[in-house]
Amino acid sequence: MTAKRIDGKAAAQAIRDRIGGLVTEFRSAAGRAPGLAVVLVGDDPASAVYVRSKGKATREAGMESFEHRLPASASQEELLALVDELNDNPAVDGILVQLPLPPQIDERVVIMRISPDKDVDGFHPVNAGRLAIGLHGFVPCTPLGCLRLLQQELGDLSGKEAVVIGRSNIVGKPMALLLLRESCTVTVAHSRTQDVPAVVRRADIVVAAVGRPKMVKGDWLKPGATVIDVGINRTDDGLVGDVDFEGASEVAGAITPVPGGVGPMTIAMLIRNTFVSAARREGFNYEKSL
Ligand code: GUN
Repeated sequence: MTAKRIDGKAAAQAIRDRIGGLVTEFRSAAGRAPGLAVVLVGDDPASAVYVRSKGKATREAGMESFEHRLPASASQEELLALVDELNDNPAVDGILVQLPLPPQIDERVVIMRISPDKDVDGFHPVNAGRLAIGLHGFVPCTPLGCLRLLQQELGDLSGKEAVVIGRSNIVGKPMALLLLRESCTVTVAHSRTQDVPAVVRRADIVVAAVGRPKMVKGDWLKPGATVIDVGINRTDDGLVGDVDFEGASEVAGAITPVPGGVGPMTIAMLIRNTFVSAARREGFNYEKSL
């Protein structure tokens, strides 16, 4: 058996195109474009690539991209002053401070300074809390993108056994909460889990977000399972996920490739969250399922 390859690139493009259409309507109603501010501190090459592609996607959707760069030596005070300015700028609907930050800056302090209503990354404790208790807020882009791919493949997720491998604040924890919101039976496996293969073997849905190249093997999977691979690991073999794609493809029902799976969906959800923020701020009506 060979699993269906889930095309995240196509799914992401469809969402970006749909939002592009809504942005056109928004611009004539509001008299301005939705705006996303992206802040890069320092010159980490991977972060620079991500920031560039976020800016490009923002402009392609017809939205305004405000790009701010601070030197690697920037102080926490300088960055907080910039965040304050963006919080107060009415043309800015979304603020994203690219992580990781240089060691002299406390990530948590910076995230807490972003207005929760412009926090399109969904990292502010207020948004994390909203997700935990089922209120509207911003959900982190990567797990939201994973959920969309799962819904596209499986439709209603209610009652399914879901296993999330990894418990990070950016992916694992919000992913588990989103799956719980969809009425899955959710298990979170992590570095101290005693028998990860045995836990994974009962899952209809597997989301791997640990950052360990090809960790999840084909014989860990329940036949027909849907596998979402969040890993982006740079190895001597090139870019690989957290799942052994070849082995897993023999057993899974459907699986995301790396690259071309979750990655493009993360950017599409950032565009989506920025549009939703602009719509909320201007009282512009949009389809809530967007
Ligand atoms: N660094 C890696 N992924 C992300 C992300 O989704 N948002 C931000 N702000 N920084 C990141």
